[in-house]
Amino acid sequence: MDAVDAETARHWDELYQRRERIWSGRANPHLVDVVDPLPAGTALDLGCGEGADAIWLAGRGWRVTAVDVSTTALDRAAAEAAAAGVAARIDFQRHDLTRTFPEGVFDLVSAQFLQSPLEFPRAEVLQAAARAVAPGGRLLIVEHGEVPPWSRLAHPDVRFPTPEETLAELDLDPDGWRTERLDAPRRAVTDPDGQPATLVDHLVLVRRR
Ligand SMILES: C[S@@+](CC[C@H](N)C(=O)[O-])C[C@H]1O[C@@H](n2cnc3c(N)ncnc32)[C@H](O)[C@@H]1O
Repeated sequence: MDAVDAETARHWDELYQRRERIWSGRANPHLVDVVDPLPAGTALDLGCGEGADAIWLAGRGWRVTAVDVSTTALDRAAAEAAAAGVAARIDFQRHDLTRTFPEGVFDLVSAQFLQSPLEFPRAEVLQAAARAVAPGGRLLIVEHGEVPPWSRLAHPDVRFPTPEETLAELDLDPDGWRTERLDAPRRAVTDPDGQPATLVDHLVLVRRR
């Protein structure tokens, strides 16, 4: 079996090649909230995309391993990291997380919107993410809670796993982990027409004892 599924790589590379920049370039706000009070350590950013979270973490002194399946995204992220002067603190690695996973354990493992319209063994990947958390470290999962109201995919029948369902999928030993957050925070954003809008995210933060 190849280390990378060709269809997965093509899908995400095509998305990134549509424009010079796909995401905002700013670190995800829930990551910033959670990490702000923590001392710097080692972090693993799963599905790092254009690298904004990894670059923000590295700027705060973290040593980051940042992973994505898209070479277009990784090249872009590496160029941004160099421009920000933090390239030495980020190890960009290409993985199809459904097939290979970075080695090591980390003080923070972050999966921000690691969601895919393709077949994606979500529970297995998130369980591997939990196994990569060092003793005393944290796993932060942030996902869409609702489809953005302006999206062509918005439909009342479309639903995402609740934070409780995601926690259950992780199948963690309750004696080995403490749940620090399990909620659905709202976020004020500006929609593509420049109008104010609200997004709902689903957030799971667990800490290994
Ligand atoms: C919705 S984007 C989120 C990007 C970034 N975390 C952010 O919040 O801006 C999902 C990312 O996961 C990556 N991805 C999707 N499937 C993957 C897989 N099987 N292995 C590794 N990365 C994957 C995509 O290339 C994409 O960059």
